[in-house]
Amino acid sequence: MAGGGLAPSNGQVKHYNGRVTSFVIVTCVIAATGGLIFGYDIGVSGGVTSMDEFLEKFFPSVYQQEKTASGSKNQWCQFDSQMLTSFTSSLYVAGLISTYFASMVTQAFGRKSSMLFGGAAFLLGSAINGVAMNVAMLIIGRIMLGVGVGFANQAVPLYLSEMAPPQLRGALNMGFQMATTIGIFVAGLVNYGTGKLHAGYGWRISVALAAVPALIMTLGAIALPDTPNSLVERGLRDQAKATLQKIRGTDDVEAELQDMIEATEEAKKVSDPWSSILRPEHRPHLVMAIAIPMFQQLTGINVIMFYAPVLFKTIGFGDSASLMSAVISGLVNVFATTVSIATVDKFGRRILFLEGGIQMVVSQVAVGAILGTFFGDAGTGKLSPGLANLVLALICVYVAAFAWSWGPLGWLVPSEIFPLNIRSAGQSIVVGVNFFFTFVIAQLFLMALCHLKSGLFHLFAAFVVVMTLFVVFLVPETKGVPIEEMTLVWKKHWFWKKYMLDDHITPSEHRRED
Ligand code: BGC
Repeated sequence: MAGGGLAPSNGQVKHYNGRVTSFVIVTCVIAATGGLIFGYDIGVSGGVTSMDEFLEKFFPSVYQQEKTASGSKNQWCQFDSQMLTSFTSSLYVAGLISTYFASMVTQAFGRKSSMLFGGAAFLLGSAINGVAMNVAMLIIGRIMLGVGVGFANQAVPLYLSEMAPPQLRGALNMGFQMATTIGIFVAGLVNYGTGKLHAGYGWRISVALAAVPALIMTLGAIALPDTPNSLVERGLRDQAKATLQKIRGTDDVEAELQDMIEATEEAKKVSDPWSSILRPEHRPHLVMAIAIPMFQQLTGINVIMFYAPVLFKTIGFGDSASLMSAVISGLVNVFATTVSIATVDKFGRRILFLEGGIQMVVSQVAVGAILGTFFGDAGTGKLSPGLANLVLALICVYVAAFAWSWGPLGWLVPSEIFPLNIRSAGQSIVVGVNFFFTFVIAQLFLMALCHLKSGLFHLFAAFVVVMTLFVVFLVPETKGVPIEEMTLVWKKHWFWKKYMLDDHITPSEHRRED
């Protein structure tokens, strides 16, 4: 395949030398396994908290309440327990704090160091959780897992976006989301198996098996080279050149190396990335770093990922049908992600965002209407099997839409838009905001379901309308643009160009503009 990034500057096209080497593909596949630990954890917590032996041991009051709840209770409210949700969401608080430290490690010691540290922390967390004897051990384990994903989610998307050649950056970066969906799906299957054990230790197997993806990522990180961008940033130019030659499959990498060096020179003029990101010329980046992960969570996806079995139980599915429904939506999640991987570098990011947004709104409105009409807000109705299956089908349509739009793009787009000097800090804002809203949704969903009932689906649909309009007006297309050339994209945008003054453009970008 011919190499080269395309910068859409005044109709001129920029090409870097090189081709897509198998080395870069293998490297990115290994790095993407970082998504496994994120996904495994998303998928495992919901199932574990529904296992009787686990509840009895650590949350006896929740267990008692579940066992003695009378059948006359409004079904919308039967799972409303803050204790239950805090187990799931505590990890995200640890993740959001640790990602700030990850940004410093990633910038000063390289992307690889953060991945290594994240993998090791996750490994430790899964071991502690697997042998937990009391709530304190459980919480310490959760904190270590949170530190693991805080570091991994900060470093892996950046790593992938920097390694990939521009024309394949979308697909390679999405390996992270692909691994996340596989992690969620595998965790669902593991829970399904261990849930049937009834030997008192099924949950231990579920949480301890998190060590497997953690080991894959830790060993992978040891074997990987660091990104040329990070090597240049740390003054290791010779190594950067050698890595670039290897991943691009050519000796002549001068143009790309030169752009990285210039981006680094530019970056050095600013000492503190945290105050720099607040400056007017970084306003579009800051807005994206906050809005994109926030909107990703406001799609409501984790309602399905965390609570699908609970939700299906609420609308009248039996225990095993509920677990099976979660497995089905998990599979849809994995397969629909491949659609995005196959199309993102051809058709671009915006079209996926827009199509996915419309599809999500339609399915959410339909689910809300069916539940509102046939299940009723009193929560005492029952859906016919046909309607319950229709709801499951509509939820799959919704999950598919998320999986080829906001799922992967919510990580890809932020990781490719920041200039080098604020890239690490920017990405840690993305992770922090993502985890904060994951926490909020995880913490509030069961309560919101109890109060808003079917209207909750309409609330999420309204959020998706807002984020789709945000994309229409404010998110530029970034397909094929070299990562160190992104400033031009903002400079040409009808709204964001007012923040882009001439002296914020690197010399190489100036050359291309002339
Ligand atoms: C999101 C997660 C979500 C997952 C579902 C990710 O992109 O960040 O919160 O659970 O997609 O596949």
